[in-house]
Parts: sequence; structure tokens; C-alpha cells
Amino acid sequence: MSTVVLVGSQWGDEGKGKVTDFLAEKADVVVRYQGGTNAGHTLSVGDQVFKLHLIPSGILYPQKTCVIGNGVVIDPVALVNEMNELRERGIDLSNLHISDRAHLVMPYHRRLDELQEQERGDDKIGTTLRGIGPAYMDKVQRTGIRVIDLLDDDELKDKLTPIVMAKNRLLEKLYGAAPYSIDDLLDEYGQHAQTLRPYVTDTSVLVAEKISQGHKVLFEGAQGTMLDLDHGTYPYVTSSSPTGGGACIGGGIGPECIDAVVGVAKAYTTRVGDGPFTTELEGPIATRIREVGKEYGTTTGRPRRVGWLDAVVLRYAVRINGLRYLALTLLDVLTGLDTVKICTGYRCRGEEITHMPASLRALEACEPMYEEFPGWSEDLAQIEDFEDFPKEAKDYVARVCELAGVPIALVSVGPGRHQTKILQEIF
Ligand code: IMP
Repeated sequence: MSTVVLVGSQWGDEGKGKVTDFLAEKADVVVRYQGGTNAGHTLSVGDQVFKLHLIPSGILYPQKTCVIGNGVVIDPVALVNEMNELRERGIDLSNLHISDRAHLVMPYHRRLDELQEQERGDDKIGTTLRGIGPAYMDKVQRTGIRVIDLLDDDELKDKLTPIVMAKNRLLEKLYGAAPYSIDDLLDEYGQHAQTLRPYVTDTSVLVAEKISQGHKVLFEGAQGTMLDLDHGTYPYVTSSSPTGGGACIGGGIGPECIDAVVGVAKAYTTRVGDGPFTTELEGPIATRIREVGKEYGTTTGRPRRVGWLDAVVLRYAVRINGLRYLALTLLDVLTGLDTVKICTGYRCRGEEITHMPASLRALEACEPMYEEFPGWSEDLAQIEDFEDFPKEAKDYVARVCELAGVPIALVSVGPGRHQTKILQEIF
């Protein structure tokens, strides 16, 4: 396969960064296609830990082309900081390319994200407060600023002036908040433009060329299927399309270019932010999984909500994304539990269902139906071959595969690159 899309199969934080990093070794090009600094990947390379928010994980390999596609919303301040940090740590950025059509996250987006969340009170979405929703709102409303506008001082002034005036009216009149100075914004963002300019290009052309030359291209989704604007647990979702189809729109390619979509799933489930979570656990097992799995947000540091694996969610992800394979991560975190469970269906208002309801009320009324399995105690991270894993762990993986209805290509049992077991080659 030459063109693979990697997506989150749950509510994000499935370990996509690690799997991307693993696959990036074989890929020539890695493309981010949606989301923004709401995403956070933690990558361990040797004794170094890298936290990336906007730049594709492939950047840690020299010679890989890394693309921030048109579907990403870019916070220039965050991107420049991330670039500086990588440069200081000796990472070469000459292969980084930024789409001229990507939209920008501006300071007023971040501020509006906070104010809108405050206004929602108990009904808050639990956003990452990175301005993602307001930036995509402006894109859809056709009042967004794109990277290409940033590079032209006159264009930027012409576009930004009426937008900031309108935002200031909103901030002052509706929220009683401080306005933004247009001149200050022009000054500051004009400087960011100089830093970013050498990296800006029409990335759709670049990616198409790479595909036609037979290069291996990996599209790296951020967040996950259940946070998809259309298919997730709306309104407790993000404002972009993290699903397979999103790669076409946000990467600037046609569907016929995609050879396979691979879904990353944790061996259990986590969720940050608010919204329904049918298999959510509380008490000692949740605490144990959270601590062993270090389940705290990379971007916000928030403790993640934790639950058993949900096969209803996995099957949904298989269908919505057209998954060819799953990559199962963090299996080692379940080590030491007496028993482990998988939710195979929901009981909803007296009826058994095996699909994801559209209504949040219906989903909130769902009770999980579980299958229970014996646990294992061996340290999986120390076992070289998947075949030598304890029978209980292998049985668990086999059942996940059966319930999801697709093969598992990779099983990850630790943060290191060598702790990924290959069951099927992807590239
Ligand atoms: P936003 O994307 O910041 O607007 O947040 C909307 C929802 O998506 C919230 O529940 C966030 O916690 C969640 N979310 C956004 N990005 C991520 C991510 O990278 N991992 C997991 N959850 C995320």
C-alpha cells in the first residue's frame, strides 16, 4: 500500500502519535489534515520525549516530507514555538510544508472559545480552549484568515480590519470583554508570517506529486471518530472531520488516492471533555488504568475519563472510516487486572442494540453489555514476539478483532518504537 490514512477509532488519545511515528519510518510523506493545537502527541525516541501539537510526527525522522494540510487550523504563535523548540533540539525542519489554504487560529478565537465555554455553564463541551471551534466557525462563515493572507501585508490588513472590528463588537457588547488592537495584531502576525513564509506552499500539489511518483504517504488524523463533527457524539465533538473522509478534504486529495484506512484503538477507552461515555469506570480500576496508562491530556493536562473497551464504538469506527485494519495500543496497561471486560452491545430502554444511537438522550440511557475475560500478569513490554504473549492477552486481542470485524495489524505494549508488534504489514 502506498497511501494510508491513520485515524483515531475512539475519542482521541488512542496513541496515534506513536503509531504514526512507527509507520513514518516506512513512509516518505506524513500529512496532518484536520484539527489544530487541540491535538497532542507524545513521542518517545530513545531517552528523549517530544510533545507535538501541529507538526506531523514524521518530523523526527530526517528526510521525511511533513505536511500541514489545508484542513488544519493553524495557530501561528503555537506553530512558531513548536518549530523553535524542535530546532533547538536539533531537529531539521527543512522538509516541513504548510498549506497556503489552511485557516489561522487567531487570539480572538482562543478568547471566544473560553467565553463560549463559560457561557455554556454546566452544558460546557469541555473544549481544549485552543480556539478550534471559533476558528472553524469563521472558516464556515467565510470570515476566516488563511495562511496565504498572512503572507501579504496589504491583504492581511484588508481582511483582518473588518473581522477584528466585528469580533470586538461581539467581545465588548455580548461578553463585556476587552477588544483587540488591529495594529498590534498586524504587527505580531506580520512577524510570524516572516518565520512561516519559507515553508508555505500549495501542499495539495506537493502531495499529488509524491503520490504519482509512488512515494508512501501517511495521512495522520488527529482526535478520533467519536469526536467527528458529523459522526461523533454531537455536540460533544470537535469542529473538524477526524474520520477517513476528512483526509480527502483536509489533505487535498481525491478518495481514489487512498489505499487503506487504519484505525488506532486503545485496549480500553478514554475520553477527555464532557459528553456520554457508556463504558466509563469509576473507582479503583479506573484509577489504576489512569495511573498506569498516564491518562492525562498532552495538551491540557486534564485527567482523562477511563472505561472498558467498547466494541459498539469500534464497529462504528470500522464502518464510518472504512477501516481495513486496527492498531491496538496500550495493551500493557491492562496487565495485572484480575479480569478485563469488553462491551459488546448496549441495553437501551429495554432493547438490546448493537449500533450507535444518534440521540444523546438515548445514548445516555444505554447500559453496557459486557463479556468478561481472565486477565494476565506477565509484563508484555518485555516479550519480544506477540506469539509468546500470555494466552489470555492473545485471546483478548483475538476477541477484539472478531467483535470489530477487521484484522489487527499492530499491537503496541509500550512507548518505545521497538514495543510495537507487527501482525500484518501496513506499508
Ligand atoms: P475542541 O477540539 O478543543 O473544540 O474540543 C472539543 C472536544 O474534543 C472536547 O471534548 C475535547 O476534550 C476533545 N478533544 C479535542 N482534541 C482532542 C484530542 O486531541 N484528544 C482527545 N480529545 C480531544
